[in-house]
Amino acid sequence: MKKYLVIGNPISHSLSPQVHNFWMKNNNINGHYEKKKLRSNELKDLIFKVKNKEIDGINVTVPFKKEVIKSLDQLSNEANKTQSVNTIFLKNNKLFGHNTDIEGFTLAIKESKFHAANKKILILGAGGVVPSIIFALNDINVSKIFISNRTREKAENLQKIFNNLEICSWGTIPDFDIVINATSLGLNSDDEIKLDFSNVGKNKLFFDVIYNPKETKFLKTGKALGNQIENGKMMFIYQALAAFKIWHGIEPKVDKETINLVNQ
Ligand code: ATR
Repeated sequence: MKKYLVIGNPISHSLSPQVHNFWMKNNNINGHYEKKKLRSNELKDLIFKVKNKEIDGINVTVPFKKEVIKSLDQLSNEANKTQSVNTIFLKNNKLFGHNTDIEGFTLAIKESKFHAANKKILILGAGGVVPSIIFALNDINVSKIFISNRTREKAENLQKIFNNLEICSWGTIPDFDIVINATSLGLNSDDEIKLDFSNVGKNKLFFDVIYNPKETKFLKTGKALGNQIENGKMMFIYQALAAFKIWHGIEPKVDKETINLVNQ
């Protein structure tokens, strides 16, 4: 039986096992996917189990997406540029790290039907997932990426990697077509991003990386002002799909049942 894991800390909230086990069952794959809470000092030994073929693949979540890199032999271009790995597997007997959050975001934007090419994007936040979002946006050929983060220095660090970013002070809202909440504000349903969107106009896309709760205050505000909204559910599902394709060579179906696994 093939064995897969998602590692992180905390990890109890992860829905990856439900989604991967569902797809493996539907595709008659004899495998099992579990979640495992780890400490930093346990990473190396666990990842080595992929080399030993005791484990067939690992997904990585917060806070280890960067830290795992030093235990790997080789990175994809995407993982290297973003310094973020969420999918590990053995490739030509080497421990290989890839970043499927990029594909997850790209496919989620595509499915939203909001045309992002040549549009102006505002990203709120500069945490772990933001390099993946910027990489995807650059691939989509957006016309402008603004980034705003409470701690400006973190946005400046991202500017060193992606030199096309323009930094806006926290609290300043430039003219945009898509605004992405990539902060952790909203994870608790009382959380509020204290930014004034009242003058942004209509027909924009408000995208939140958060999918639980389904509608953060940020999305509620966007909707009330007459804008399209999308939460992070499809981004999550599509990053899982991209990992599944790599590990099993099969593209699983994203049907209502799959989506319901995440709509809890
Ligand atoms: P990490 O930074 O460890 O990768 P993250 O959850 O990926 O963690 O990122 C949290 C993001 O939410 C950061 O951009 C953070 O801003 P800071 O860099 O200033 O910490 C942002 N964030 C969290 N709480 C916030 C708040 N109360 N107001 C504004 N931004 C907040």
